[in-house]
Amino acid sequence: MFKKIIRLYPPFLRENMIADERILVVDDESLVSDIIAQCLEAEGYVCDIADSVVAALKLLEHQEYALVVADINMPGRSGIELLSIIQEQYSDVAVIMVTAVDDRKIAIQALQLGAFGYVIKPFDLNEMIINVVNALKRRELTLQSKGYELRLEREVKERTAELHRREDEICYRLTAACEYRDEETNSHNRRLGLYASVMAKELAWKQKEADEIRIAATMHDIGKIGVPDSILFKPGRLSPKELVIIKTHTSIGAKILSDSDIPLLILAETIALSHHEKWDGTGYPNGLKGKDTPEAARLTAIVDVYDALVHARIYRAAIPEEKALEQMEKDKGFHFDPDMFEIFLKVLPQLRDIRMKVTE
Ligand SMILES: [Fe+2]
Ligand SMILES: [Fe+2]
Repeated sequence: MFKKIIRLYPPFLRENMIADERILVVDDESLVSDIIAQCLEAEGYVCDIADSVVAALKLLEHQEYALVVADINMPGRSGIELLSIIQEQYSDVAVIMVTAVDDRKIAIQALQLGAFGYVIKPFDLNEMIINVVNALKRRELTLQSKGYELRLEREVKERTAELHRREDEICYRLTAACEYRDEETNSHNRRLGLYASVMAKELAWKQKEADEIRIAATMHDIGKIGVPDSILFKPGRLSPKELVIIKTHTSIGAKILSDSDIPLLILAETIALSHHEKWDGTGYPNGLKGKDTPEAARLTAIVDVYDALVHARIYRAAIPEEKALEQMEKDKGFHFDPDMFEIFLKVLPQLRDIRMKVTE
């Protein structure tokens, strides 16, 4: 079965040998597996022997191997089957196939299935060692390149997260600039972002978009920066002329946020422009009706009114939640999208939690 063992290996082989890698030799003929194992152990490798695929799989479950040298023709499950299983479940393990039959088809099949080498019996043990060294070297390079890909993937993820963090911070600071004038709206804006994110998740938005609306909704009233103090902070009722001016905060906000290609700012522009539109078309600035108002603005409209009612404003005191909800219920189908209002009621306990945590 074997040619004479030649122990004098060429110098390049000795240099390339990695002594501490464990190898599993699988052959139903113990004579063959013993000789292969002895020869590899003489080179400093640690070897285990299995006499069937089943025995090999048991060993693979409990022990890490760098390489499996497997006979193809064995009673029961074949070496090709073992190769497929290793490819699927232990993809970091290299495999060399050994066969007594010089069958090109089987050799090609084994290589296509991912074998790193193919040795035909009877073989020269030098040939076996050359195959082992090559397979281990190729495995090492594959592992290095896998590690490189993983590192690259991790770096891309970290940089993307960093970019999002910067985007978030810039938006927060932009909102903070407007809140500097009107401190009372700071917590209102923060709550609104959190409420909107809860609503978006309930509406099955993607996680990324639900995260974006948490920031985007905080900018809904950013246009108030363009409204004079005398109107913005007027304690009493606004005159029709003043009402026209305060309504411009929607289009001013949209203008501030316009022409961006950053999804977060595009979303913020939509909300700033349309959060005072009403379901029945009597809202402003464009009198949009029903679903012509973007979903993001329809959901923000509900939580904006809710939060405004249950907190004190410069022109009125806070209203108890029960009364606020009664009032809002009447507006369902007029001011608010009726389906969206049901979603709001469903997530109300979560919104209450946010209210308790984010206080003035
Ligand atoms: Fe507003
Ligand atoms: Fe608001």
